[in-house]
Amino acid sequence: MKLFFITGSKHKFREAERILKEYNVIIGRKDVECEEIRAENCENVALDCLRQLRSEVNEPFFIEDSGLFIKALNGFPGTFSSWVFKKIGNEGILELMRGKEVRDACFVSSIAAWDGKEEAVLRGEVKGYISNKISKEKGFGYDPIFIPEGSRKTFAEDHKTKMMCSHRRRALEKLAKWLRR
Ligand code: IMP
Repeated sequence: MKLFFITGSKHKFREAERILKEYNVIIGRKDVECEEIRAENCENVALDCLRQLRSEVNEPFFIEDSGLFIKALNGFPGTFSSWVFKKIGNEGILELMRGKEVRDACFVSSIAAWDGKEEAVLRGEVKGYISNKISKEKGFGYDPIFIPEGSRKTFAEDHKTKMMCSHRRRALEKLAKWLRR
């Protein structure tokens, strides 16, 4: 089965391509716009997007919505992560976190998939902390300020760990299992 990942992000596509290959799932990329609804959780955003695209895309496909949820900020930036990153970036997040002792955060990835017969929503998450400073190594989005549980390095500093335990990997592994059901 040819499966398409509909995403405007080359970064997300490369990551998904590498991970799904381990499960013998080969994907292609399509970039079709969908209008993201305002919602509190990534699952609803992803599912709404899937349903919008089902009338336009005839092959099996999936889309992904992700975000960073910071406890001390009541879940902000959450489903607005992409927009917030463009507006205030990691500097802005660290500014909001200044003086906060509770630095717990969670990355969430929600995949909504259509295999030609059924739809599914698959969620992956990774818990961690917001660092006190931006790590030097460049990385995707919030990677330079996110330290996964059990580590002392940010995702940007330790890409190997990110590839092993990321929210996206966890959601993609569930996708691979669902496709094999
Ligand atoms: P969306 O899923 O396209 O709405 O974008 C979510 C935003 O969250 C991205 O633009 C990034 O800023 C951020 N994000 C999602 N996943 C990651 C990740 O793995 N590392 C760092 N930032 C991420």
